[in-house]
Amino acid sequence: MSRISVVGTGYVGLVTGACFADLGNHVTCIDIDESKVKLLRGGGIPIYEPGLRELVDKSARAGRLSFTTSYSEGLAGTEFVFIAVNTPPGPSGEADMTFARSAARSIAEHLHAPATVVNKSTMPIGTGDSFASVLTRLGTVAAPVVSNPEFLREGSAIADFQHPDRVVLGADDRAAAERVAQLYARLDAPILITDLRTAEMIKYASNAFLATKISFINEMASICERLGADVKEVARGMGLDARIGPAFLDAGVGYGGSCFPKDVQALAHMAALGGCHPQLLRAVIEINASARRAVILKLRTALGQLEDRTIGILGLAFKPNTDDLREAAAVEIIRLLRREGADVRAYDPAAMTKAAELLPDVQFCADPYETADRADALVLLTEWNEFKHLDLDRIRRAMSGSVFVDGRNVYDPSEMTGLGFDYFGVGRPHVSNDRVNRLTRTA
Ligand code: UGA
Repeated sequence: MSRISVVGTGYVGLVTGACFADLGNHVTCIDIDESKVKLLRGGGIPIYEPGLRELVDKSARAGRLSFTTSYSEGLAGTEFVFIAVNTPPGPSGEADMTFARSAARSIAEHLHAPATVVNKSTMPIGTGDSFASVLTRLGTVAAPVVSNPEFLREGSAIADFQHPDRVVLGADDRAAAERVAQLYARLDAPILITDLRTAEMIKYASNAFLATKISFINEMASICERLGADVKEVARGMGLDARIGPAFLDAGVGYGGSCFPKDVQALAHMAALGGCHPQLLRAVIEINASARRAVILKLRTALGQLEDRTIGILGLAFKPNTDDLREAAAVEIIRLLRREGADVRAYDPAAMTKAAELLPDVQFCADPYETADRADALVLLTEWNEFKHLDLDRIRRAMSGSVFVDGRNVYDPSEMTGLGFDYFGVGRPHVSNDRVNRLTRTA
């Protein structure tokens, strides 16, 4: 078993640290944020991730996982130092490297015995090289750098760590990459060893490709809406082709979160700086913005002016099973609604505490039924399981209007219309109640 240090106890660092400790390694997590370390030492978890609290607790009790604010304490006797600090987006879409650079400098300063430095954070192509030169210039011991991009999804991060599709390791020193490969040996996943820059690029290319799939299906959805086809069936028909695959073909209100928006922007920025014209990436970004605005257009089509209308929002987090609101479609859509003068009520099973800080003039409700109460329209933006089993009849009766915009295609359009909703899905033919009433009358 190995001695591992993890710098950064954000989402990636904490999951990585807890999972390596669970595999039997001795892990020390370092974070400069004293309040976070205090919380973690007391058994608290600063993020919402199913199963993480139990995993941290188990390893901490077994003495294999500890937390510190001190680099010298956290790096003492270590064999591997994982860098997992965040790289938020800078003003023109580039990754902000302030925290990462300062972590690399602190590691160089406090590492007193040779160790392998592993870069887990998503950082611009060439970061591994620049960290290697910082460690050589400022450090006193050998510290080869390996890029080991993470592919964890929020909400299923532990399972993703334990059963990865692949582990990517990039290094100019092959022996260093092979040492890191040993840490993953028990996971029984294919391990791909490349050079540093290629591994860094694999991460960006993977996220950009998944975002492209989403924007592709969202563009198909708007074509379907105009031509009268059903995008859900289109995606099913496409996904059965093994070359295409069914994943990431759910049309909706666009991708959000802390990764896709930031990484696609950063890749486009790097490409442009490198003299390329990243037109596909730019289209992906543009389609994603349109997917959000489409919700407002549907509401305007159904209600006319939105001023003084009451709109109920079901789901705020950027996806289910997280309380993360970063780049969440709901936050942008609610701001657009408020700008048009609509009154907004909202409910989310996990993200309301965070949302209250960001959206002070929204009325947060105890459940979906209270959200529907006297609403002119309901808009579903996150496909939480809880929303899949609603008493829709009760919802319909609670509302004063009948408009339902289903931003994630959770419900069946004809069932919803049958219940009396004026139902708008994404990329599905819109059947208005008038038409249903007419059809029923003629029958
Ligand atoms: C994503 C990647 O899936 C991970 O592999 C990667 O490690 C991570 O970014 C990262 O770079 O750290 P995550 O941001 O947790 O993970 O979320 P996803 O599950 O990929 O969903 C991203 C967004 O796409 C969500 O807003 C989701 O609602 C949306 N989405 C996803 C769709 O609109 N349609 C789909 O078919 C799939």
